[in-house]
Amino acid sequence: MSEIHIQLPSSAAIAYPVLVGSHLLQELGQRVKERAPAPSCALISDDHVAKHYLPMAKASLEAAGYRVCSFVFPAGEANKTLRTVTGAYDALLSARLERSSPVIALGGGVTGDLAGFVSSTLLRGVPFIQVPTTLLAAVDASVGGKVGVDHAMGKNLIGAFHQPAAVFTDVTTFKTLPLLEIQCGLAECVKHAIIKDAKLFDFIEHNIAAICACDSATLAELVAWNVQIKAVVVMADPFERGERALLNLGHTFGHALETLAGYANLAHGQAVSLGVVAACHLAVQRGEFPPGSALAVESLLTRIGLPVRIAIADPTAVFRAMGSDKKIISGRLRLILPTEHIGKARIATDIPEGQIMQAIGYIQQQGAAVA
Ligand code: NAD
Ligand code: GLY
Repeated sequence: MSEIHIQLPSSAAIAYPVLVGSHLLQELGQRVKERAPAPSCALISDDHVAKHYLPMAKASLEAAGYRVCSFVFPAGEANKTLRTVTGAYDALLSARLERSSPVIALGGGVTGDLAGFVSSTLLRGVPFIQVPTTLLAAVDASVGGKVGVDHAMGKNLIGAFHQPAAVFTDVTTFKTLPLLEIQCGLAECVKHAIIKDAKLFDFIEHNIAAICACDSATLAELVAWNVQIKAVVVMADPFERGERALLNLGHTFGHALETLAGYANLAHGQAVSLGVVAACHLAVQRGEFPPGSALAVESLLTRIGLPVRIAIADPTAVFRAMGSDKKIISGRLRLILPTEHIGKARIATDIPEGQIMQAIGYIQQQGAAVA
């Protein structure tokens, strides 16, 4: 089992472990008890994950002495809303949770973001535990404390920073994931590789088959490696005042595509893949990134099975939707560009509209519009 330790710079009080291994779910109760002892706790999950893993998680928590309140919502990004949050408040308050009672997110990034937001606001904040069950949530969403929900005007526009008290990743839970979800998780891993670590890029290139076959040892190595990369960035800049923005490579393009496509038609990881391709093309166009490296990125994403082109009804609508992203500063779009080589990226606030439109044009393909 790997353990990555996260400690925020400003506050010694905020420090937590990320444990990555196999069969952690059976021991969940004891592990949660070490980090958040209380008479009761809440388990939040979506209906897909609940079917597979809620009984085991609940039994383990009860065996450790918790009175468990479960809240299950319908799976899907379309339910990452204040409406679902209100349903969770109703259930958790009716169950008389206390300030010491942890809220445990058992699921993918949608569950983690939503349960995290609930935990950040319920009774002015209760402890939060992440148990990610998708590759995407394990390598990215469960670490770093960004929690929140979507608004009709865009993704993740309502939220907070609320760090978990612990993250427990049991990679054996990924075995029930559809292949698409493994591919989506790999999109965030490729993102980490492009901004920080060319060796991770090579590792992914050489291990696609083992990862897609859910080989536990390969998955555990992949998750721990990505968490380590993210941990270094988050520890240096927990509130995204600077370097943490690098983790948004491809996301401003991606969020706009997700919003326009309707969340059911384009998964987050697929949107990130398209956004990464657009960002790479933009950097090549500006002479900042070698064309060969951009091609290597596109070819890796294609080998993984991720989209690198999408039918877009109106490219200007994508540009406008990028304008409702959170990453606007003083009215200017802040984009992340790969620079010089794979493993290095920079924050750019000076990109002309024409170049952004050209990058949108680059990922556009003909056909019935998705976005
Ligand atoms: P998700 O939570 O919707 O999970 C994807 C699908 O897999 C869902 O249908 C879910 O029910 C199912 N599922 C989950 N675990 C399963 C399992 N083990 N077996 C079978 N099915 C399972 O989506 P996701 O891709 O995990 O996360 C995407 C979300 O994460 C987006 O909302 C995105 O904005 C957010 N995100 C947040 C951060 C952050 O830092 N907070 C970072 C990246 C992404
Ligand atoms: N997923 C980007 C971040 O956590 O900052």
